[in-house]
Amino acid sequence: MKKFIPVFVVTLAVILFFNGKKYDELVSSRLSSSIAVCLEGQSCGQATAMNVAAGGASRSAESIYSSGCAACHDAGIAGAPMMGNKAQWEARQAKGYEMLVNNAYNGINGMPAKGLCADCTKEEIGIAVQYMLDTI
Ligand code: HEC
Repeated sequence: MKKFIPVFVVTLAVILFFNGKKYDELVSSRLSSSIAVCLEGQSCGQATAMNVAAGGASRSAESIYSSGCAACHDAGIAGAPMMGNKAQWEARQAKGYEMLVNNAYNGINGMPAKGLCADCTKEEIGIAVQYMLDTI
């Protein structure tokens, strides 16, 4: 029986050690989740989120373009029609504005759905498309 006591103690120590680690991981993963604190009178992210959920465009076409589209459309990466390139855009424009917006929103060939603007509404993609068409 005496032989089992050290075995029992070691097992207990191992269990406690690993449990402790798991607990630490749990705590740190909870700490890293983003929590927004919003005080009365301050403008909160919620209003924007609600706007987006309701299908509204809360960002400007220029800011959507520069953060979500310019990475490919400035230089024509992967065959993307280039910003300001009349010939490249005219061929696409023949499809009609609605179709272009649909394709940009849903993705087509090398064009990923919504570009780099994962939280863009269709309306926001639409104004970004119009922003590009306005430059040609
Ligand atoms: C990762 C690179 C990339 C990003 C980011 C990107 N595009 Fe594109 N886009 C492409 C490529 C490549 C094509 C050409 C696809 C094809 O027709 O082969 C394209 C084509 C398009 C077209 C033409 C679609 C058609 O039917 O001919 C529109 C409109 C468009 N993009 C809008 C946007 C908008 C708006 C954004 C930003 C919200 C955006 N793109 C971001 C790569 C990108």
